Amino acid sequence: MKYLKILGNKKLSGEVRISGAKNAALPLIAATILSKNSVQICNMPDVVDINTLLKLIDKLGGSFSREKDCITIDSSKLHKTTANYDIVKTMRASILVLGPLLARFGHCEVSLPGGCAIGQRPVDLHLKAMEQMGAVIKINRGYIEATAPDGLKGAKIVFDKVTVGGTENTIMAAALAKGTTTIINAAKEPEIVQLCEVIKNAGVKIEGIGTSKLIIEGTNKKLLPMKDFDVIPDRIEAGTYMCAAAISNCKLKITDVIPLHLEAIISKLEEMNFEILQDETSVTILPTIEIRPVNIVTTEYPGFPTDMQAQFMALATQANGTSTIDERLFENRFMHVSELLRLGADIHLNGNIATINGTKGKLNGTDVMATDLRASSALVLCALVANGETSIHRIYHLDRGYEDLEGKLNKIGAVVSRHTEEK
Ligand code: UD1
Repeated sequence: MKYLKILGNKKLSGEVRISGAKNAALPLIAATILSKNSVQICNMPDVVDINTLLKLIDKLGGSFSREKDCITIDSSKLHKTTANYDIVKTMRASILVLGPLLARFGHCEVSLPGGCAIGQRPVDLHLKAMEQMGAVIKINRGYIEATAPDGLKGAKIVFDKVTVGGTENTIMAAALAKGTTTIINAAKEPEIVQLCEVIKNAGVKIEGIGTSKLIIEGTNKKLLPMKDFDVIPDRIEAGTYMCAAAISNCKLKITDVIPLHLEAIISKLEEMNFEILQDETSVTILPTIEIRPVNIVTTEYPGFPTDMQAQFMALATQANGTSTIDERLFENRFMHVSELLRLGADIHLNGNIATINGTKGKLNGTDVMATDLRASSALVLCALVANGETSIHRIYHLDRGYEDLEGKLNKIGAVVSRHTEEK
């Protein structure tokens, strides 16, 4: 297994180019199942989760080819409908093939994703939406067996809770359903907006894009003439590098971003006393004389993203005072805390609220273990300012979602190296 060594207290400077968004690319890859032609998707991040979903497309009978950051996917001849446990267990987002497979073929079998490191993460809302569109769902030997012999029908879906993946699955299913689907309490994340726009550009009528009420006119199983497109920039990767600059208290320019998608992150950094300069496609964070504490509550977009909570916890360890983070979306998303304590952080947990007392300059490098994707980035951030060397183990979590992490960090002055554990 690989691990990262980071030598702390280096001055960062320069520019970081942000890659395409993993969480936008995943549903877009699944959406190619709705397409009658091959689609070239550029600005595709080179991360493990993307390769996992491409492997699933391949197993289902589709094909793909790669040239630099562009991947051309041909799902037109896709003919198998089972997403096996061996792939789904490695990545929950494989559930995103449920809606498009069911809509196209009238049946599919998708392994249940099961629990995961950041809580139970059920898929009940995905299944309920498919049932409301006419599917019959059975759970058999750990598989979701979904059938809709006459095809899916448009329906009014009211989500009890805002769900990103559930909204994406329903949009894709609705695109090929018969009649109109209305989704109430839909997620509004930029990833959802791009999925809607790509499907709309393929001729499907969609109203309410970017709002919590989406109205989608299905094509009654007619496959879509999908066009080529570029994946939007990764707002979470951008936020992570903004936190890298902030925690190191250095000036850093983050390029190839959409600043509008970063509003909640920028606003919290401003509350922490950082000045952020913005132009159309970049943000520059400037050093501050005092990092102020902050109170954060995670919510759905456009609120503060749960995927940035761990990184801000890392940053809060360097604040002059006490910060709080209230995690409202997932019940078990504080596993990085015990690892941050190993580095010398002063953090107390009370249910889903973390209280972080700033301990500026007092973190000391040691061995820590990554527990999930975003939690691992908090360890990287603390390692950047810890005294001495930090070794971060189980970095396959980081590789799932951060393209060329050590390359990008080293380019701005960090000292990061990748090693293989001795057996
Ligand atoms: C997506 C993101 C993930 C991010 C999360 C919240 C991808 C690939 N992943 O995950 O990085 O942290 O949004 O912004 O885009 N829920 C149910 N039943 C369901 C579905 C969800 O109760 O059927 C609950 C979840 O347990 C959670 C909340 O709803 O408490 C939000 O989850 P959801 O938005 O669905 O997250 P994902 O789509 O899995």
